[in-house]
Amino acid sequence: VYLGIDIGTSGTKTLAMEESGKILASATVEYPLYSPKPGWSEQDPQDWWLATIKSVKQVLKQGKIKKEDVKGLGLSGQMHGSVFLDKNQEVIRPALLWNDQRTAAECDEIESKAGGRKKLIKLVANPALTGFTAPKILWLRNNEPRNYARTKQILLPKDYVRFRLTGEFATEVSDASGTLLLDVKKRCWSNKLLGLLEIDTDLLPQVYESEEVSGTLHSEAAKLLDLLEGTPVVGGGGDQAAGAVGNAIVKRGVISATLGTSGVVFAHSDDVEIDPEGRVHTFCHAVRGKWHVMGVVLSAGGSLQWYRNQLGEDAVREARKQKVDPYEIITRQAAEAEPGSEGLYFLPYLAGERTPHADPHARGAWVGLSLRHGRPHLIRALMEGATYAMRDCLEIIKGMNVPVNEIRVSGGGARSEFWRQMQADIYGQSVCTINAEEGPAYGVALLAAAGTGAYKDVVEACTATISVKSTTKPVAKVKRTYNKLYPMYGQLYKSLKSDY
Ligand code: XUL
Repeated sequence: VYLGIDIGTSGTKTLAMEESGKILASATVEYPLYSPKPGWSEQDPQDWWLATIKSVKQVLKQGKIKKEDVKGLGLSGQMHGSVFLDKNQEVIRPALLWNDQRTAAECDEIESKAGGRKKLIKLVANPALTGFTAPKILWLRNNEPRNYARTKQILLPKDYVRFRLTGEFATEVSDASGTLLLDVKKRCWSNKLLGLLEIDTDLLPQVYESEEVSGTLHSEAAKLLDLLEGTPVVGGGGDQAAGAVGNAIVKRGVISATLGTSGVVFAHSDDVEIDPEGRVHTFCHAVRGKWHVMGVVLSAGGSLQWYRNQLGEDAVREARKQKVDPYEIITRQAAEAEPGSEGLYFLPYLAGERTPHADPHARGAWVGLSLRHGRPHLIRALMEGATYAMRDCLEIIKGMNVPVNEIRVSGGGARSEFWRQMQADIYGQSVCTINAEEGPAYGVALLAAAGTGAYKDVVEACTATISVKSTTKPVAKVKRTYNKLYPMYGQLYKSLKSDY
């Protein structure tokens, strides 16, 4: 049995998996997110640790799993967050998270110290974005110098939990890539950039490959978790790379489109492929010696959630009556409108946008409203807008020497047959679903299985356990309609940009 632990933004999910890939049990324990000022997003690392203990114990109990049967643990987590520890290894202040927006000035500082955006991309494969870790470190130095002076170790969220489990300061290549301090090509810290930013390398943990064993459970943690001392803990992965392993996105040509609150298009690559404009992220993959490129849409499913919460009372009421999910009613309403929503467009930038605009100030809009439009058009246009945004990511990736032969869809947007069909029609190619739906926790359980010898490597682990379940083909006529409308969608952001 292998355990996968995912330190998410809303909660920690642990699952137990047999070597065959069969899931025995899973449990999630939630915790709060704090926003003490507009644009700030923080969590208490102690909450992650307590949720880890609780969810592991629940899983062992639920799956009737004996501690001797657990052969390895894998860790995944929300990326980019920063935990600052003092000389006694105590947390200095709440962790700043991936969706924290306070570091715009520090992003400028990094680009200028690196000698410009192009040079920065050359050093670490990515431009400076407010969500990344390096600007958070500089923010602490600029704004809380006393806390910075006390900082002896900086860890990513899952790596803080690793420290509590094993006593080791360690990370792995996929999550380390999102700090903006990793030489992504060489898969080690960029001493060059660390020097330019005057950040001491000793503050950072040792970097492993994702399937390598990074330490073993120490006696105190083993007691708390009801596991055996010495159980190996593998590197694991940032939630995106780990989720990709859980979807078996481990070879060239196979990519995933995940439509949850955010939307992510993720492609495996055999070499470091960089978009010179920095519109997609280029990070190390959780597959040894491989990389990935990834586009992130901040409010994909999030736009539909917003609709449900703000304008969907009728659907929520009807869903209660019919005892179905409100999204089922909402998508049924959307299906009443024609593809293209009779000229109505929606821009899904409710929380600004990462790919392709890297614009925290971008905002959402319906454009083209007329008297003919009703609720079905509003919803359909919204879903089309979120899916065009995913296509934006796809188009950039296709233009980067990364082939897109197979698209695997997952998340809420894949569970709805209507949205799956819309994705096939807008992407212009077939989309498929697979037999695994557990995401990052499943991916790191597979990494644990591979890293402790159950499989030759993670690619073999994925091939042995994951297969395609269904395929949805585009409808030729609808595909043509969307192909005609998509350029207009791209034009709208350009027209509105100066007004945001
Ligand atoms: C990836 C990203 C998010 C976080 C939280 O770049 O910012 O996926 O990892 O899930």
